[in-house]
Order: sequence, then structure tokens, then C-alpha cells
Amino acid sequence: MIRFGIAGCGHIASKHIAAIAMLDEAKLHAVCDKDEERMQKAVGSLIDVQMYSNYSEMLRDEEIDVVIICTPSGLHSQMAIAAAHTGKHIVVEKPIALTLEDADAIIKACHENRVKLAVVHPNRYRPAMLELKRMWDEGRFGRISHVSVLVRWNRDDRYFGSADWRGTKEMDGGVLMNQGIHAMDLIAWLLGDATEVRAMTARRFRQIETEDVAIASLRFKDGALGSVEVSSTVYPKSLEEQIAIFGEFGTVVIGGGPTAHRIVEWKFESMTDEESLQLQERVNVEPYGESGHLSILRDMVQAIKRDERPSIQGEDGRSALKLVLDIYTAAEQELRQLI
Ligand SMILES: NC(=O)c1ccc[n+]([C@@H]2O[C@H](COP(=O)([O-])OP(=O)(O)OC[C@H]3O[C@@H](n4cnc5c(N)ncnc54)[C@H](O)[C@@H]3O)[C@@H](O)[C@H]2O)c1
Repeated sequence: MIRFGIAGCGHIASKHIAAIAMLDEAKLHAVCDKDEERMQKAVGSLIDVQMYSNYSEMLRDEEIDVVIICTPSGLHSQMAIAAAHTGKHIVVEKPIALTLEDADAIIKACHENRVKLAVVHPNRYRPAMLELKRMWDEGRFGRISHVSVLVRWNRDDRYFGSADWRGTKEMDGGVLMNQGIHAMDLIAWLLGDATEVRAMTARRFRQIETEDVAIASLRFKDGALGSVEVSSTVYPKSLEEQIAIFGEFGTVVIGGGPTAHRIVEWKFESMTDEESLQLQERVNVEPYGESGHLSILRDMVQAIKRDERPSIQGEDGRSALKLVLDIYTAAEQELRQLI
């Protein structure tokens, strides 16, 4: 049995708690939050779960095998490094950290202490994304012309007022860092680092320190281009999320709603229309696959049992973060040229 301890009992912790409950070989052993009420609420009617109001105290609990870090993003690095030094494996929520220095420090601490590190980028496990990656790895797209991601969401004042860290530079980052990082992870997963980045960001409607809309153009090593549009400003509610890949011998669009779940277009030279339709019928079903959080925790349990590396590692989290930071840097350069 692999025993988990969760740090931070807010919104996302509930997904981890639900996922642990579904895994035969996992147990929620402890939770930690500085807010007692939240901790009590998260535990609910679960029995035999230790509650810690102090993180260092939870780390001293020798029965914990894996710490899941669900605290504000600006705390991820210090908490992950502390966990690594106590020999605990780590699942850290996205973004892995807010700076590359912090991400590198986490990766280094995990390496030196021989603990496993997984970063929560659950969208990779969506059935449509898994099919897309399979086609990508098999080279079915041929050369890539361009990719496009859209995240047209709404995060209103009530959302930003729900916790004092939201929308701050020190603890959160803007819409690209918080909401857009899932799409950045998918781009980096497929295409690697961007070699050229042009971008503009703006804070249009929300009363926050960071950007609420970001637009970027990317170029990749092999010459493929990328287009990024991410916002939390869409009136009156989240409209769509989409990833589209345009290749020499294949076109894929995954979207179809506020989250990119459904195959909207799936055409390959190497696939008949009948095969393509069958695949769409298999993927575009409700309920839609299992929770990505469940897949990530199952993967961590297996990685520990088999002494393998988790599927989504620290380096993956770093790549997504790098793309976000490269876009921020490009947007700052653009602004400087104007002044
Ligand atoms: N993977 C995803 O799809 C996804 C979705 C939402 C949020 N997240 C990430 O999860 C993290 C948390 O987001 P959230 O929406 O759950 O935030 P939240 O504000 O709802 O919860 C954060 C919790 O951390 C607690 N906390 C803060 N400082 C602490 C400390 N020093 N020790 C112990 N507890 C502390 C707070 O009291 C709060 O209960 C963020 O990094 C966010 O980016 C990921």
C-alpha cells in the first residue's frame, strides 16, 4: 500500500482525494492545511487520516510515501524540496514552479534524494490527446505546418476573490501560467522548445497583478509555427478550449466545448474515413475517460512499485513552464520596444 499525504486542502485537493479512493494500492494517510476548517472539510467522513496544520510536521510522519503538493503555485518549490529532503516521493500540481531556477532546484533535490517526481498535467491523459500523441509518434502527420491552441475562458472577480494568492505575481502568475499551462504542456510535449517567440499580454478586465489575456506566435526547430490565444476574460462564461494540428498528411482538431475533449476533425492520408469515424465514436463518448488526476496517481503508484520514472516528470513540468516564461519574456520585450 502506498500512503499519500496531501499539502493544501483547497479546490484541487478534492480531485486527488477522490483519485486515491479509487486506487486499490493507495491510501490517504494524511492531509495538511494551515486552514483547519478546510482540512476538516477535505477529510469529511474519511477515517484514519492524520491532520497537520504545519507542513514540516507532516513531513516528519514516516508513514507517508508520497506527498501531493496542492498549495498556491509560488509555494511549490520550497515544499517540494523539503519533501525530497525527507525522502518522500512527490506529485506536484501544475505549474511545477514559477521560475526555471525553482523548477531546476526541485528536479535536483529529487535526483539527489532518489525520490520520484511527477507533475500534474492531466490533459495528456484525455483519450483524444492519447490518440493524437499516438498518431504523432507514428509520424502520421508528416511534416508540421502549424499548431494552434485556444483557451477562451472566463475567470471572473468572484474566482479571483476566492483566495488571496490568485492573480498575484509572487504566488500565481497570469492566465498563461495558471490556466494556459495545460496547453503549453501539450505544445511542448509534441514539439519541444520554441526557438522563436513573439507575444503580447495584457490585463484588460480583472483587478489582478498579472495578465488576463495572452497572444503569442511561436516557431519550432523544424520550422513549424505555433499560435497561442489564452484568456480568462471571455464574456459571460468559458467558451472553448482547442488544440489543432495541421500536418502534411494529417489534420486534427480537438475541442468541442469549454474543455478540449472531443475530436472535431480527424483526417489522415493513412486512415480511411470509416476508420476515422470509428475512432471518433470510441473517443467522443460520455462519461469521458477517467480523471487525469487518477491516471497520474496510478502512474506514480506503479512507478514506485516497479522503481521506474513516472510518465510526466519534472523535466516535462519544466518544459511547459519554460514556454510560459519565454512568452512572458517576449511580451516584455515587445512592450519595451514601444516605450
Ligand atoms: N491540474 C489542474 O487541473 C489544477 C486545477 C486547479 C488548480 N491547480 C493547481 O493546484 C494548486 C492549488 O490550487 P487550488 O485552486 O486548489 O487553490 P486553493 O486556494 O483552493 O487551495 C490551496 C490550499 O493551500 C492551503 N495552503 C496555503 N499555504 C499553505 C501552507 N503553507 N501550508 C499548508 N497549506 C497551505 C490553503 O489554505 C488552501 O486551502 C495551484 O498550484 C494550482 O495551479 C491545478
